[in-house]
Amino acid sequence: MPKVTIDGQTIDVPAGTTILQAARMIGGDIVPPAMCYYSKLKTSGGYCRTCIVQVSQGSTADPRPMPKPVASCRTNVMDGMVVKNITSPEVLEARAGVVEFLLLNHPLDCPICDQAGECHLQDLGYEHGKADTRYEFERRTFEKIDIGNYIQLHMTRCILCYRCVKVADQLTDGRVHGVINRGEVSEISTYIQNAIDNDLSGNMIDVCPVGALTDKTFRFKNRVWFTKPADANCTCTKCTGKVRLWFKGDEILRVTARKDEYGEVVDWICNECRFKKRKLSDWVIEGPAKVNRHSVISQNHYESLRAIQFDTRLQTAVLNGHKSKLGEGPLNPNNL
Ligand code: SF4
Ligand code: FES
Repeated sequence: MPKVTIDGQTIDVPAGTTILQAARMIGGDIVPPAMCYYSKLKTSGGYCRTCIVQVSQGSTADPRPMPKPVASCRTNVMDGMVVKNITSPEVLEARAGVVEFLLLNHPLDCPICDQAGECHLQDLGYEHGKADTRYEFERRTFEKIDIGNYIQLHMTRCILCYRCVKVADQLTDGRVHGVINRGEVSEISTYIQNAIDNDLSGNMIDVCPVGALTDKTFRFKNRVWFTKPADANCTCTKCTGKVRLWFKGDEILRVTARKDEYGEVVDWICNECRFKKRKLSDWVIEGPAKVNRHSVISQNHYESLRAIQFDTRLQTAVLNGHKSKLGEGPLNPNNL
C-alpha cells in the first residue's frame, strides 16, 4: 500500500492508484478538477490537463521532485510521494493557463447554452479564468451536423475530451461517431452524417462536460437551477431504471442519469428511460436528489423539504416512498 501525501493529507492507497483517485479518496477541496477523466470509462484522461498537480517528492526511494506539473489522472502514486495541488501557487497559475487555452475557442455563450449551471468549464472559468482574453484570432467555426432527434451537437463548444467517443466505444454497438481530423480542425463527427441511434447513446449527453452535446428534448425549456431534481426509478429491461427527474411544478422536463459528487454518472441509463416521455405515475419517486458539486443548482436547497412543494401527487409519492434526509425513518409531514 503506497503512502501518498496530497496538500498535507496522507493516505495509504492500493498500488496502481493514480494521484487523482487518491485525492478523491481523501475528498474535499484538494481534489483536482477533471474535464476528461471519467472513472467509468476505460482509457479516459490525459487530454485536457486541468488535473495537473506538482509532485514535490517523487517517492521515498527517489525523492527528487518531478520537473514540471503532471496530469494527476494519468500519474500513479509512488510510496512516499508528496503532491501539491491547491497549496501550490504554480499549479494554480498553470491551471489558469490551461483554462485560458480551453477557452481560446470555446464560445462564451453561457447565457444561451443549455449546459449553463452544470457546465464544468463554466465552473472552472469562474474559479480560474481571467476576465480578459489575450487571443486575437477568430474562434473556430464548423458546419452544422445533425446527429439525430435526441442529441444536439454544438461543435464550437467541444473541448475534445473524448468522453463521448469512449461512451460510444464502450457502451454502444455500432459506433457511428468519433473525432476526425487533427489539431485545431479536430472535430466530433458522425462521418457520413449518420444519426446516432442506439439504446445508450443518450449517455453521451451526461458525460459531456460542456454544452457540446445537449438534450434536444430539453433545449431552451428551462434553466437547470429553476428545476427541481428528484431521484426516481422504474422497471426497465435495458438499464437499471435508476434516473434523476428534473421537475418544473409537476411536469418532468427532462430525465438524466444520476451523478456523483464529481459529476460522474452513477448508472448508465437507456434512451427509453431518458427520452420516452413517461407520466409521473410511471416512476417511483425516491426523494429529492442530492446535488453536491454544482453550487448554482444547490442554491435552491433541494435537500430541504421545500422539495416537497412539487405537487400533491409527488408529495404523496415522496411521503410514502423514501427516508428523510433530515433524520431517521420516513418523512414526517409535521416537520415540513
Ligand atoms: S462533444 Fe463533449 S464529450 Fe464529446 S469530446 Fe466534445 S466536449 Fe467531450
Ligand atoms: S482530467 Fe486529467 S488530463 Fe483531463
